[in-house]
Amino acid sequence: MEHSDPLRGSVAVCGSKNAVLPLLAATLLSEDECIISEAPDLKDVEIMCALLRSFGAETSFDKKAKIIKVKAANITTNEAREELVCQMRASIVTMGPLLARTGRARFPLPGGCAIGDRPIDLHLKGFIAMGANVVMSKDETKSGFVEADAERLGGGDIYLDTPSVGATQNIMLAAVLAKGTVIIENAAHEPEVVDLANFLNKMGARIKGAGTDIIKIEGVAKLHGAVHSVIPDRIEAGTYMIAAAITRGDVTIENALSNHLKPVIAKLRETGAEVVDGEGFIRVKADGGRLVSTDIKTLPYPGFPTDMQPQFMAYLTTVSGPSAVLETVFENRFMHIAELNKMGAGIILKEERRAIIPGGSRLAGAGVKATDLRAGAALILAGLAAEGVTTVSDIYHIERGYSDICGKLSSIGGKIAKVDE
Ligand code: EPZ
Repeated sequence: MEHSDPLRGSVAVCGSKNAVLPLLAATLLSEDECIISEAPDLKDVEIMCALLRSFGAETSFDKKAKIIKVKAANITTNEAREELVCQMRASIVTMGPLLARTGRARFPLPGGCAIGDRPIDLHLKGFIAMGANVVMSKDETKSGFVEADAERLGGGDIYLDTPSVGATQNIMLAAVLAKGTVIIENAAHEPEVVDLANFLNKMGARIKGAGTDIIKIEGVAKLHGAVHSVIPDRIEAGTYMIAAAITRGDVTIENALSNHLKPVIAKLRETGAEVVDGEGFIRVKADGGRLVSTDIKTLPYPGFPTDMQPQFMAYLTTVSGPSAVLETVFENRFMHIAELNKMGAGIILKEERRAIIPGGSRLAGAGVKATDLRAGAALILAGLAAEGVTTVSDIYHIERGYSDICGKLSSIGGKIAKVDE
């Protein structure tokens, strides 16, 4: 991409990647057909559908209508294939439903990724609290596996040491068919947890407290099919908010829920950008004059989202004055710093999780590399603001979580095109 004039116009966001993946996992819990609308056309969604089919489910995805239908009438295996699981860490949230539905689940251990080790100890702690026998093993190729078995899961109380989104979802997905009541304490509050609970309750589950610290799940014998619309993607929406701010433009993001983005809106306003939010839209106007620095600290929801940290950091390189960024959720989510510094950002890594952004940079176009999904998005945003031409390689990371990002940015004036590497 190359330096773009201030972006102007409106862009609509899709259904949430981080909501649709656990929703798809939940379809394994019923023999009946489930229908999920507003489904985003993403690589991760394709991988999840392939994983469901590997367990014996039938899936169809009408991308034009944004509707996915899944019917898991018969589960033919409760062993996850390594070549699918290794493509997407979120595969692990199919473990809970398989354990609940068939009494067993065997998964290759999902490796870490660029941003951190991504352990699953809290997921397994939950299964064990419900009476599952969990064993780690290595096969002849020395790959690690985890197997959970339970005649029938029972009730239990689980305290999550950290409010893990995935662990909260996986435990909920196992508990809905347990014989008894499961209490999750220190649960994650994310909107994607609430969306999953709403879908499960439509299927006949009995979940209370999703979105708060304590979630109570009363197990039921069986779940029926349901129809559900995925909530909008708050991180995609936040990314386009930053695209408006970093180019000093005026953009309206449609199909966005501002109550899912309060910290991002607050922080943008602290820098002097004007943010107007209404029924289903958020407008960011950053063409009104000098923008100044602010500090951000990522936290579990409702704090500032870690998934918006790289994008916001790219923006902070362009405002006047120094900013501090503290990443408290993942241990290695600063790989975009080296790439932004190739563009002249001058960011200083003070400690493992704290960076100082001097600000006031006139970013210069460069060849940079996407290291993970949100870091890649941050580099695209920086490239729109930078003088000259920026090329971002390894964009497959970005395509996992953003549907048609080039088309959407071009529609509001972004000078960006996908080229063969
Ligand atoms: C989800 O990942 C999201 N992914 C991530 O989005 C997001 O960054 C993250 O939640 C935090 O909001 C999906 O929903 C598919 P966690 P998840 O378990 O569930 C530690 C993106 O860019 N932890 O809440 O894997 C873990 O190490 C992606 O869309 C344990 O210690 O995140 C991390 O430090 C990136 N033990 C912290 O919790 C466990 O058993 C938060 O991880 C599980 C997690």
